[in-house]
Amino acid sequence: MFAQARCSRFSSASSAFSSWAGADGAPRSSASPSLASDYCRRLILAPELEDKLEPPPSNLEIDVGGEPLILRAPGRSERLRIRPAREVKVPPLIGFSDKSQRARILHALANHELQATELFAWAVLAFPETPVAFRRGLIQILAEEQKHLNLYRERLATHDLEFGDLGVTGHFWNQLDAMSTPMAFLCAMGLTFENANLDFAGEYAEAAIAAEDPETARALAIVHEDEERHVRFAYRWMQRFKNDDESVLEAYERTIQFPLCTARARGKTFDRDSRVRAGLDDEFIDALEAATALRPSGVPR
Ligand SMILES: [Fe+2]
Ligand SMILES: [Fe+2]
Repeated sequence: MFAQARCSRFSSASSAFSSWAGADGAPRSSASPSLASDYCRRLILAPELEDKLEPPPSNLEIDVGGEPLILRAPGRSERLRIRPAREVKVPPLIGFSDKSQRARILHALANHELQATELFAWAVLAFPETPVAFRRGLIQILAEEQKHLNLYRERLATHDLEFGDLGVTGHFWNQLDAMSTPMAFLCAMGLTFENANLDFAGEYAEAAIAAEDPETARALAIVHEDEERHVRFAYRWMQRFKNDDESVLEAYERTIQFPLCTARARGKTFDRDSRVRAGLDDEFIDALEAATALRPSGVPR
């Protein structure tokens, strides 16, 4: 249905930010925007974290019509500037037992939440032709990603670290070309990254319990529970957008772009029950379970 998004307006963060900000670069108004497109543009382009964490106002109106706006990068202060992956080393899961390594892992998880927040806002701007209910759902998920980021920020504070103290990568933003249509966005973000987090969050929660850090385990359990709903959202809308004569798995496989694939949509462990609760069909779950989990480098987990 939305196989080809019309990407008629491409914009760099700096040029689009300048149209939102005043001549001196300062925001025109600190009042919360009441139109979804204004709110999302401001969230993505704002350089400071506190602006990105401003929750969507309850009276936010979803735009009707309008042209797609494809932002190529978020606005970021120097502290949160996206760095090449080689400059940001994240300890493996086994490091969770050590408090200082755990802090570095939590920082990386917080970075994932920041990018998810920005990219759900990005999709609202990129796909104005989608149903209002779809974009309202994107905004609801965005608010939960903000909540997750705050949960991890709280955990970082107890580990003597503040978000931004360490470098951050553009792990999700780097996959922007794989998200050029509503279906592609759902496949990459919902059915790959968030799908894999159904395993990762569980693995980290277990590691937190083993490390006798129940507060971190509790934060991860909240993220895990929310993520099931986010995966459900992606699956439900894939059912709406796909062709009638194909399954969701077939639609996923013709849409997802390498190197993203089922092998990147799961962890080393496989939480089948989570996928069942997320409403995925048996064919999709079986394909995930049969896949060999791969790291972003292509090496098996
Ligand atoms: Fe999240
Ligand atoms: Fe999520």
